[in-house]
Amino acid sequence: MKRPHVTINCAMSADGKIASPSRRQLRISSEEDLQRMYRLRHQSDAVLVGIGTILADNPKLTVKDSYIPHPKQPLRVILDSKGRTPPDALALNTVSNTLILTTKGHKRAYEGPHIEVMECQGDDEGFVDVKKALELLSQKGIQKLLVEGGGTVIWSFLEEKVVDDLFVYIGPCIIGGKDAPTVADGKGIHDENVLPLKIIEVKQIGSGVLIHYHPC
Ligand SMILES: NC(=O)c1ccc[n+]([C@@H]2O[C@H](COP(=O)([O-])OP(=O)(O)OC[C@H]3O[C@@H](n4cnc5c(N)ncnc54)[C@H](OP(=O)(O)O)[C@@H]3O)[C@@H](O)[C@H]2O)c1
Repeated sequence: MKRPHVTINCAMSADGKIASPSRRQLRISSEEDLQRMYRLRHQSDAVLVGIGTILADNPKLTVKDSYIPHPKQPLRVILDSKGRTPPDALALNTVSNTLILTTKGHKRAYEGPHIEVMECQGDDEGFVDVKKALELLSQKGIQKLLVEGGGTVIWSFLEEKVVDDLFVYIGPCIIGGKDAPTVADGKGIHDENVLPLKIIEVKQIGSGVLIHYHPC
């Protein structure tokens, strides 16, 4: 299968949570890590999130020029099986182009030539099939894809074994709450076969620690 190079980047608390128990976005990254995150976006052809992140955080998914002067804006990709992206979502602003991937029969129209909606094959759970989505992105010329979350989408990419680099920034804080989203949610494993990772690099960035892993 021809697919883009896939990098996952996310920020978690010391207890592995990526947002509050009510799924509210929290500032976990230090200023230095935000700079790194914007550089990653700037260097990527596309940045991808799930509809859960769009509804919870309403992110713009662009590169701020206060962090990267004269940035290159990546294509924004939303995995949205049922076509629930609100027309006023900030990720649909005109700063960059946006591709919404739905499953069959859920395509809907949005205003503006910078927004494209494409139907993609569904998987067993009724989600957009990750491998088909990657093939489609590759056909569109996307070579470097940055996946930013949330936990359900990250799990799907890891489970499908289509991840090249995983960056986890650990902020010096605790969020707690058994319902708070974590780096990898989804179904999880139900046997002994954990998904193994190899640590490539560990470094302190600002007040936190960045771990670079390769899935093996
Ligand atoms: N700290 C960080 O770095 C960071 C980064 C991003 C997000 N977050 C947090 O993560 C939370 C959102 O995470 P989430 O798990 O609720 O949502 P999510 O992973 O952003 O989106 C999940 C949804 O995407 C859709 N989807 C379509 N195809 C999919 C596929 N192949 N695999 C998985 N999902 C697919 C599904 O909804 P449909 O069935 O409707 O399509 C699914 O429920 C928020 O609280 C946000 O603040 C944190």
